Amino acid sequence: MGRGILVVFEGIDGAGKSTQVRRLTQSLRELGVPFRVDREPTDGPHGRRLRASATLGRLTAEEELELFILDRKEHVAGFIEPGLAAGEVVILDRYYFSNAAYQGSRGLDWREILRRNECFAPAPDVLLLLDLSIDVSSERIQSRGEGGTEFEKRNVLERCAEIYAQIQHPALRRVDARQSVDLVAQCCLAEVQLALLQRLVPEKRLTAVELMGWVRKWTVLPS
Ligand code: TYD
Repeated sequence: MGRGILVVFEGIDGAGKSTQVRRLTQSLRELGVPFRVDREPTDGPHGRRLRASATLGRLTAEEELELFILDRKEHVAGFIEPGLAAGEVVILDRYYFSNAAYQGSRGLDWREILRRNECFAPAPDVLLLLDLSIDVSSERIQSRGEGGTEFEKRNVLERCAEIYAQIQHPALRRVDARQSVDLVAQCCLAEVQLALLQRLVPEKRLTAVELMGWVRKWTVLPS
Protein backbone atom coordinates (compact mmCIF):
# COMPACT_ATOMS: atom_id res chain seq x y z
CA MET A 1 0.00 0.00 0.00
CA GLY A 2 1.39 3.40 -1.01
CA ARG A 3 1.44 6.57 1.00
CA GLY A 4 -1.82 8.52 1.03
CA ILE A 5 -2.29 12.10 -0.03
CA LEU A 6 -2.80 15.22 2.04
CA VAL A 7 -5.58 17.58 0.92
CA VAL A 8 -5.86 20.96 2.63
CA PHE A 9 -8.63 23.54 2.41
CA GLU A 10 -7.68 27.12 3.19
CA GLY A 11 -9.28 30.55 2.90
CA ILE A 12 -10.67 33.39 4.94
CA ASP A 13 -13.70 32.82 7.15
CA GLY A 14 -16.91 32.63 5.12
CA ALA A 15 -15.19 31.25 1.99
CA GLY A 16 -17.14 27.97 2.28
CA LYS A 17 -14.45 25.56 3.47
CA SER A 18 -16.69 23.49 5.74
CA THR A 19 -19.29 22.98 2.98
CA GLN A 20 -16.62 21.97 0.50
CA VAL A 21 -14.96 19.60 2.96
CA ARG A 22 -18.36 17.91 3.40
CA ARG A 23 -18.90 17.69 -0.35
CA LEU A 24 -15.47 16.16 -0.92
CA THR A 25 -15.98 13.53 1.78
CA GLN A 26 -19.37 12.61 0.27
CA SER A 27 -17.79 12.13 -3.16
CA LEU A 28 -14.89 10.07 -1.83
CA ARG A 29 -17.30 7.90 0.15
CA GLU A 30 -19.37 7.26 -3.00
CA LEU A 31 -16.22 6.44 -4.96
CA GLY A 32 -14.98 4.06 -2.29
CA VAL A 33 -11.75 5.98 -1.67
CA PRO A 34 -10.54 5.62 1.94
CA PHE A 35 -10.17 8.97 3.71
CA ARG A 36 -10.06 10.68 7.08
CA VAL A 37 -11.04 14.25 7.80
CA ASP A 38 -10.41 16.78 10.58
CA ARG A 39 -10.02 20.50 11.22
CA GLU A 40 -7.51 22.87 12.83
CA PRO A 41 -7.54 24.09 15.48
CA THR A 42 -8.35 20.53 16.60
CA ASP A 43 -10.76 19.47 19.30
CA GLY A 44 -7.80 18.53 21.50
CA PRO A 45 -6.84 20.54 24.62
CA HIS A 46 -4.75 23.17 22.79
CA GLY A 47 -7.36 23.59 20.07
CA ARG A 48 -10.15 24.03 22.61
CA ARG A 49 -8.13 26.65 24.42
CA LEU A 50 -7.58 28.53 21.15
CA ARG A 51 -11.28 28.50 20.25
CA ALA A 52 -12.16 29.75 23.72
CA SER A 53 -9.63 32.56 23.42
CA ALA A 54 -11.40 33.86 20.31
CA THR A 55 -14.47 34.69 22.37
CA LEU A 56 -12.99 35.08 25.88
CA GLY A 57 -9.78 36.92 26.71
CA ARG A 58 -7.45 37.20 23.74
CA LEU A 59 -3.99 35.66 23.89
CA THR A 60 -1.01 37.58 22.54
CA ALA A 61 -0.01 36.82 18.95
CA GLU A 62 3.09 34.96 20.18
CA GLU A 63 1.09 32.84 22.64
CA GLU A 64 -1.41 32.04 19.90
CA LEU A 65 1.35 31.00 17.51
CA GLU A 66 2.92 28.67 20.07
CA LEU A 67 -0.44 27.06 20.92
CA PHE A 68 -1.36 26.53 17.26
CA ILE A 69 2.03 24.90 16.70
CA LEU A 70 1.63 22.63 19.73
CA ASP A 71 -1.85 21.69 18.55
CA ARG A 72 -0.53 20.93 15.05
CA LYS A 73 2.41 18.85 16.32
CA GLU A 74 -0.05 16.58 18.12
CA HIS A 75 -2.26 16.51 15.05
CA VAL A 76 0.60 15.50 12.76
CA ALA A 77 1.76 12.71 15.05
CA GLY A 78 -1.64 11.39 16.10
CA PHE A 79 -3.80 11.85 13.03
CA ILE A 80 -2.15 13.11 9.85
CA GLU A 81 0.92 10.84 9.61
CA PRO A 82 -1.01 7.66 10.61
CA GLY A 83 -3.58 8.41 7.87
CA LEU A 84 -0.91 8.98 5.22
CA ALA A 85 0.94 5.83 6.30
CA ALA A 86 -2.32 3.86 5.94
CA GLY A 87 -2.65 5.09 2.32
CA GLU A 88 -5.69 7.28 3.00
CA VAL A 89 -6.69 10.67 1.64
CA VAL A 90 -6.22 12.94 4.66
CA ILE A 91 -8.45 16.02 4.42
CA LEU A 92 -7.86 19.08 6.59
CA ASP A 93 -10.11 22.09 7.13
CA ARG A 94 -7.26 24.61 7.72
CA TYR A 95 -3.56 23.86 8.25
CA TYR A 96 -0.39 25.86 8.72
CA PHE A 97 -1.23 28.35 5.96
CA SER A 98 -3.93 29.66 8.34
CA ASN A 99 -1.19 30.05 10.91
CA ALA A 100 0.75 32.25 8.47
CA ALA A 101 -2.31 34.26 7.41
CA TYR A 102 -3.98 34.81 10.80
CA GLN A 103 -1.00 35.15 13.15
CA GLY A 104 0.72 37.06 10.33
CA SER A 105 -2.27 39.42 10.36
CA ARG A 106 -1.36 40.22 13.97
CA GLY A 107 2.07 41.44 12.91
CA LEU A 108 4.20 38.29 13.07
CA ASP A 109 6.47 37.38 10.14
CA TRP A 110 4.27 35.02 8.07
CA ARG A 111 7.17 33.62 6.04
CA GLU A 112 8.93 32.64 9.25
CA ILE A 113 5.69 30.99 10.49
CA LEU A 114 5.59 28.89 7.31
CA ARG A 115 9.23 27.89 7.77
CA ARG A 116 8.64 26.80 11.38
CA ASN A 117 5.71 24.63 10.38
CA GLU A 118 7.49 23.11 7.41
CA CYS A 119 10.10 21.69 9.83
CA PHE A 120 7.60 19.20 11.26
CA ALA A 121 4.36 19.25 9.26
CA PRO A 122 4.10 17.24 6.00
CA ALA A 123 3.52 19.37 2.90
CA PRO A 124 0.09 19.11 1.28
CA ASP A 125 -0.28 17.29 -2.05
CA VAL A 126 -3.34 19.40 -2.88
CA LEU A 127 -3.73 22.85 -1.36
CA LEU A 128 -7.13 24.31 -2.21
CA LEU A 129 -7.35 28.01 -1.45
CA LEU A 130 -10.97 29.15 -1.65
CA ASP A 131 -10.70 32.67 -2.96
CA LEU A 132 -13.36 35.24 -2.05
CA SER A 133 -13.54 39.01 -1.62
CA ILE A 134 -13.84 40.36 1.92
CA ASP A 135 -17.21 41.94 1.08
CA VAL A 136 -18.78 38.62 0.15
CA SER A 137 -17.16 36.71 3.01
CA SER A 138 -18.29 39.34 5.57
CA GLU A 139 -21.84 39.13 4.20
CA ARG A 140 -21.79 35.36 4.54
CA ILE A 141 -20.51 35.57 8.14
CA GLN A 142 -23.23 38.09 9.03
CA SER A 143 -25.96 36.04 7.36
CA ARG A 144 -24.98 33.02 9.45
CA GLY A 145 -26.22 35.16 12.32
CA GLU A 146 -22.78 35.19 13.92
CA GLY A 147 -21.41 38.46 15.17
CA GLY A 148 -17.97 37.23 14.16
CA THR A 149 -15.19 36.24 16.56
CA GLU A 150 -11.91 38.13 16.97
CA PHE A 151 -10.55 36.04 14.08
CA GLU A 152 -13.35 37.25 11.83
CA LYS A 153 -13.19 41.05 12.13
CA ARG A 154 -13.04 42.75 8.76
CA ASN A 155 -9.60 44.37 9.14
CA VAL A 156 -8.17 41.01 10.27
CA LEU A 157 -9.65 39.27 7.24
CA GLU A 158 -8.25 41.96 4.95
CA ARG A 159 -4.72 41.36 6.22
CA CYS A 160 -5.23 37.58 6.03
CA ALA A 161 -6.37 37.86 2.41
CA GLU A 162 -3.27 39.90 1.57
CA ILE A 163 -1.05 37.18 3.02
CA TYR A 164 -2.96 34.34 1.33
CA ALA A 165 -2.52 36.23 -1.95
CA GLN A 166 1.26 36.15 -1.55
CA ILE A 167 1.66 32.50 -0.55
CA GLN A 168 3.31 30.30 -3.16
CA HIS A 169 3.37 26.52 -3.04
CA PRO A 170 3.74 23.82 -5.71
CA ALA A 171 0.45 22.20 -4.65
CA LEU A 172 -1.51 25.47 -4.45
CA ARG A 173 -4.72 25.80 -6.49
CA ARG A 174 -6.72 29.01 -6.13
CA VAL A 175 -10.41 28.23 -6.53
CA ASP A 176 -12.90 31.01 -7.24
CA ALA A 177 -15.29 30.64 -4.29
CA ARG A 178 -17.93 32.97 -5.78
CA GLN A 179 -18.97 30.14 -8.09
CA SER A 180 -21.86 27.85 -7.11
CA VAL A 181 -21.24 25.25 -4.41
CA ASP A 182 -21.54 22.52 -7.09
CA LEU A 183 -18.93 24.08 -9.36
CA VAL A 184 -16.46 24.66 -6.55
CA ALA A 185 -17.00 21.06 -5.41
CA GLN A 186 -16.28 19.77 -8.92
CA CYS A 187 -13.05 21.78 -9.15
CA CYS A 188 -11.88 20.50 -5.78
CA LEU A 189 -12.75 16.88 -6.56
CA ALA A 190 -10.98 17.07 -9.93
CA GLU A 191 -7.78 18.28 -8.23
CA VAL A 192 -7.93 15.42 -5.72
CA GLN A 193 -8.57 12.83 -8.45
CA LEU A 194 -5.62 14.14 -10.40
CA ALA A 195 -3.36 13.85 -7.38
CA LEU A 196 -4.59 10.29 -6.73
CA LEU A 197 -3.89 9.29 -10.31
CA GLN A 198 -0.45 10.87 -10.25
CA ARG A 199 0.28 8.78 -7.17
CA LEU A 200 -1.07 5.57 -8.71
CA VAL A 201 0.55 5.61 -12.13
CA PRO A 202 4.23 5.25 -11.12
CA GLU A 203 3.36 3.09 -8.13
CA LYS A 204 1.32 0.44 -9.91
CA ARG A 205 2.93 0.81 -13.36
CA LEU A 206 -0.53 0.95 -14.89
CA THR A 207 -1.12 0.23 -18.56
CA ALA A 208 -3.17 2.74 -20.58
CA VAL A 209 -6.26 0.48 -20.37
CA GLU A 210 -5.94 0.06 -16.59
CA LEU A 211 -5.44 3.79 -16.24
CA MET A 212 -8.67 4.47 -18.14
CA GLY A 213 -10.43 2.08 -15.76
CA TRP A 214 -9.23 4.10 -12.78
CA VAL A 215 -10.17 7.37 -14.43
CA ARG A 216 -13.73 6.08 -15.03
CA LYS A 217 -13.98 4.77 -11.49
CA TRP A 218 -12.82 8.03 -9.98
CA THR A 219 -14.38 10.52 -12.32
CA VAL A 220 -17.76 11.85 -11.35
CA LEU A 221 -19.21 13.27 -14.53
CA PRO A 222 -21.08 16.55 -14.09
CA SER A 223 -24.82 15.91 -14.17
P1 TYD B 1 -12.62 28.06 11.91
O1 TYD B 1 -12.28 27.22 10.74
O2 TYD B 1 -13.30 29.35 11.66
O3 TYD B 1 -13.45 27.21 12.95
P2 TYD B 1 -15.00 27.32 13.23
O4 TYD B 1 -15.65 26.92 11.92
O5 TYD B 1 -15.22 26.35 14.34
O6 TYD B 1 -15.27 28.75 13.61
O7 TYD B 1 -11.26 28.30 12.69
C1 TYD B 1 -11.20 29.11 13.81
C2 TYD B 1 -10.24 30.24 13.61
O8 TYD B 1 -8.90 29.82 13.87
C3 TYD B 1 -10.23 30.83 12.22
O9 TYD B 1 -10.84 32.10 12.23
C4 TYD B 1 -8.78 30.98 11.87
C5 TYD B 1 -8.04 30.65 13.13
N1 TYD B 1 -6.75 29.97 12.93
C6 TYD B 1 -5.58 30.68 13.22
O10 TYD B 1 -5.63 31.85 13.60
N2 TYD B 1 -4.35 30.04 13.08
C7 TYD B 1 -4.25 28.74 12.68
O11 TYD B 1 -3.12 28.19 12.59
C8 TYD B 1 -5.47 28.02 12.38
C9 TYD B 1 -5.40 26.58 11.96
C10 TYD B 1 -6.70 28.67 12.52
